[in-house]
Amino acid sequence: MQKEVIVHITDTHIGKNLDFSERLEALVEHVGQHYNPRETTIFHTGDCTEGGVFDFRLSHHEREFEDFVRIMDPLEKEGFTIIVAPGNHDVGRQGITADRELRAMYGHHVRALMPWSTLTEESMRDGTAYPLFYFNGRVNWCLQALDSTVGQLGRDGPFDLARGNVGLEQRRRARAQLMRFPDMPKATGFHHDPWYLKWTNRLTDAADVKDLLADCGVKFNLGGHRHLNDRHEYRGVTHLKSHRTVDPLDGEYVFQEVTICSDGTWYDFLKKYR
Ligand SMILES: [Fe+2]
Repeated sequence: MQKEVIVHITDTHIGKNLDFSERLEALVEHVGQHYNPRETTIFHTGDCTEGGVFDFRLSHHEREFEDFVRIMDPLEKEGFTIIVAPGNHDVGRQGITADRELRAMYGHHVRALMPWSTLTEESMRDGTAYPLFYFNGRVNWCLQALDSTVGQLGRDGPFDLARGNVGLEQRRRARAQLMRFPDMPKATGFHHDPWYLKWTNRLTDAADVKDLLADCGVKFNLGGHRHLNDRHEYRGVTHLKSHRTVDPLDGEYVFQEVTICSDGTWYDFLKKYR
């Protein structure tokens, strides 16, 4: 039986403080030393960058993307498959409301980590870049990344804050991609938490997204945004959310590791790194 390990990282918020960059560098080094690039996929579920704390200028956020890609790039060079989904902090200043220029900036930089994908600056700007679909032929699993920030485009009001929305068009494309492989096991990932009800941070089409994943036979979904470890079950789909990978959990630095097997089974662990 073939196995593929998914290293799930999230909410690295590069730019918020220097510690986060150092922690991500430590994680990248750990993954490079302990995982085989031919059998490992890195899945980042967004808030790669902070989006500015004291400095709202675009040039400041551009430096954050440059730092994020510089730190992650050795994994891509070593042959790891990398999948990234955007978070609210990547597409809005300080994580508040989606902005077309920041979306384009994300596409411009993050595409370097995903040469396998169709991600471009233009498709990020107009909101058509996602879902990104990755087929792993070694274990025969489909992996899909969704953009849970795209539906906030055009709303640009003070009340959207850190909310998410996958949007009808993207849900249609996601369903079509997943339904092309009815018998194949599938996993997805996106930034927002369908169970988070706080009005400033909720996924506004959570009910539709949860049903989409269940209808398409998705086995598990990876997420972040909440900065906590938790899991939910809904109609056969397990939703695994992770704390901020660069923050300690009970005093230890950990990340989620999910193994997918060619017989369609999967299992997850929390793994430590120093
Ligand atoms: Fe977030």
